[in-house]
Formats: sequence, C-alpha cells, structure tokens
Amino acid sequence: MEQYVIKGGNPLVGEVEISGAKNAALAILAAAIMTDETVLIDNLPDVNDINVMLEAISGIGATVQRLDRHRVKINGGTITDFNIEYDYIKKIRASYYLLGALLGKYSKAEVALPGGCNIGSRPIDQHLKGFRALGADVDIEHGKIVAESEHMRGTHLYFDVVSVGATINVMMAAAMADGLTIMENVAKEPHVVDVANFLNSMGANIRGAGTDVIKIRGVHSLHKSEYSIIPDQIEAGTFMFAAAATKGDVTVLNVIPKHLDATISKLKDIGCEIEEFDDAVRVVAKGRLRSTQVKTLPYPGYPTDMQPQIGVVLALANGTSTITESIFENRFKYLDELARMGAVIKVEGNSATIEGVEKFSGTRISAPDLRAGAALCIAGLATDGVTIVDDIKYIQRGYERFEEKLQSIGGIIEKVASEKEIQKFVLKVS
Ligand code: EPZ
Repeated sequence: MEQYVIKGGNPLVGEVEISGAKNAALAILAAAIMTDETVLIDNLPDVNDINVMLEAISGIGATVQRLDRHRVKINGGTITDFNIEYDYIKKIRASYYLLGALLGKYSKAEVALPGGCNIGSRPIDQHLKGFRALGADVDIEHGKIVAESEHMRGTHLYFDVVSVGATINVMMAAAMADGLTIMENVAKEPHVVDVANFLNSMGANIRGAGTDVIKIRGVHSLHKSEYSIIPDQIEAGTFMFAAAATKGDVTVLNVIPKHLDATISKLKDIGCEIEEFDDAVRVVAKGRLRSTQVKTLPYPGYPTDMQPQIGVVLALANGTSTITESIFENRFKYLDELARMGAVIKVEGNSATIEGVEKFSGTRISAPDLRAGAALCIAGLATDGVTIVDDIKYIQRGYERFEEKLQSIGGIIEKVASEKEIQKFVLKVS
C-alpha cells in the first residue's frame, strides 16, 4: 500500500494548473456512447476513476481509443452488451451513468446496484423514479437494476431531493425519449451544465441546465462531437485551501472563477486575500485565519466536496467555528484523524464545532475518502514535523498528479510504499 509522507511548515507559493472536472468527465464519458459516431473528448483528468469508467465502456463493446492522458475517442456503435457488471460499480459508483445512457439510446440496460460508501448510504431512488416516469420498467433483481422500455416518452418530473447523479442520469435517458421532458428541483452544479452542453453538442435539445428547471425535447439520434471538459472546481478549491492552511500565496490556473464563488466567499470570510482573473484565482493568507460558520448546500451553495478542506483550515483558525453537513450523513470521519493531530472538535449529528488551535503535531493518519484524504494532506502541509497519510488510493481516484502539483508550489511531500522509504524521507528532511 502506498502512503504520502509530508514535511509540513512551508508556505505553499506559486501557480498550479487545474485539471478537467472528474465529476463532469465521468458522466460525459457515459453519454458519449449515445451516438454511433465517434466522439473526441479532451481535458480529461488523468485519475483512476476515469480509467475505470473507460474500462466499463469498452467492457460493453464500445470502441475506446486513448489518444493521451487527457484525450480519448469513443464510438458507441460497436456496443453489444447492455449489462454493467458489479465489478465496475464497486470500483466507481458513477458507472451507474451508463444506465441512463444505455436506457436513453437502446431503451434497455442492466447495472449492478451501487453500494453505499464512506460518506453515506447514497440511495438512487430518484434515479429510478426518473426512469419510471419516462416509461421504463425498472426492477431490482439479484443486486441488479434491470430497466427496459417499449417506448421512452417525455414526462414532467419533480425530484424529491436535489441530486447531481439523478439529474444527470435522467437527463441522459430523456435526451432521446419521444416528446418534451420537464425536470424540476434539479441539481445546478457546473458539471450538470457541462453534461447538458456536451449532449447538445451531439444534437440533443436540452434547455435550462444550471437553473431549477431543465426542459428536454427528445431527438431520434445523436451525432459525433469534439468536446473539452470544464476545469475541476473542487480540485481548484482544494489547492486554494492548501494555500490558506499554509499561509501561502497560490494562484490556481485554468479555472472558471464563477464556479468558485461560494469557496472564494468563505476564504474571504476567514481572512484570505483573493485576486480573481479571467481564468485564474490567487489566494494569499498572511496571518492566522479567522473562524466562521459553514453549511454545505447544493450548488451554488457551499460545496459538500469542499467541507473537509475548510474543516482543516478552521481547526487552525482563531476562534470557534461550526460546520453543518447537510448533504451526506457521514462526512465528518476525517475529524477523528484531525483530532489525532491535535485538533479540538466536537461532532453532534450533522454538525461539528471546531475550537481552533495554534498548531497540529505530525503523526500517522488515514484517508477515509477522496476529499477528506486531500484535506488531511493539507493538514500535514500545515504542520511542522512529519505526517504520514495512509490509504492514498482514495486521493488518486480524483486528483491528478496530486503530490507533483503540491511539490511544484513548495510542498515537501512524497509518495512512498515502505517503512524504509519513510525513514529515508525523515532523514532527508530532518
Ligand atoms: C455527486 O454525487 C458527486 N459524485 C459527489 O462527489 C458530490 O459530493 C455529490 O454529487 C454532491 O455534490 C459524482 O459526481 C461522481 P447526489 P451524487 O445525488 O450524484 C441524496 C467526490 O468527492 N440522494 O447529489 O451521488 C444523497 O443521499 C464525490 O467527487 C437521494 O436521496 O450525489 C445525498 O444525501 C463525493 N436519492 C444527496 O441526495 C437519490 O436517488 C445528494 O446526493 C440520489 C441522491
């Protein structure tokens, strides 16, 4: 098992290039199979989840040609199988996007039921509600979702819960259904808009993505497209909080500042100086930061995927802060690891009270999930001494060249795979 070993205490300074958005790319790769023509997708993040999704797509017979780390050609015309095996779903839940894509194009699909994960039970009832509203028969049999329809037809659907996954999955299924579909109480995340724009680039007719109501006029077929994924606002925010935690001066490049509004607002609240450019944002943190109150909400509210990152910064801020996690029921596990570094935190239900401390002390910690893992690395970078982060496979699922990007702005962090390498690092930095 690999670990990150970190020598903290240095301010992060410099510029870092942000990769394509993982959560847009996963859905767009699935949607790419909805045409029998060839689709070229650019600005893919080179992360493990993308590789698994491409395996799942070629696993059902689509033609996948990886041109380089960030570009792929996909042709869905060679698909022979409509069954997504549990092995893929176990690796990444988002392979359930193939359900909406296959149902939309072929009116049938079988996908293994995704389990829960470290941040919550993560039901998919709203996905199934949407497919049924479009006229599909959806049954759960032997751990599989079996969906089939004689005739997919437009519907008027109101989601009970604002769900990124359900919004995207049902939007794909509706893109080729007969007639008009109106979806209300939908997610408005930038990656929802990116998927709608991608489908429209293939000839779909989707209006209103990014607002509370999406209207879709089904089309009979979709055609080829060349499309570039939007930048990853969560990766960008992660590096912005790394700058804040280490009293650094970091500029994130190739971002869409508008997507970072809630993050920028909170960074300003706690005392960071922010400079916005057309496609970059600079974060400067000089003295000790201030406490604040945070509640995670669907976009454009403060993102749940940025909750661990601000949690680490608030644990070192001056004063008492509170975080309310309103999206997932189990997204505070990283706080137990942070307490082992000296943080003073009390969790009650979906709310955490954080008493800022002057500093952490380095120790061995474990990444409980993707975003929390990245946040714990930020904690290590903010701490004098050496911190070892286990289970970094989670981080590698969603952050491209994470340690290299941190090294490029002065982070002393290395990926190691043995106690011997850890000792070698400790000797080198002491
Ligand atoms: C997407 O997950 C992201 N994953 C998550 O990012 C992100 O945290 C989440 O959206 C919220 O922004 C991908 O895009 C691959 P939801 P998703 O459906 O779609 C409940 C990361 O770190 N719900 O918006 O699964 C659900 O339990 C990952 O990159 C239902 O009740 O999230 C949750 O409480 C972690 N029924 C809330 O809605 C449903 O049918 C929001 O979940 C679906 C969801």
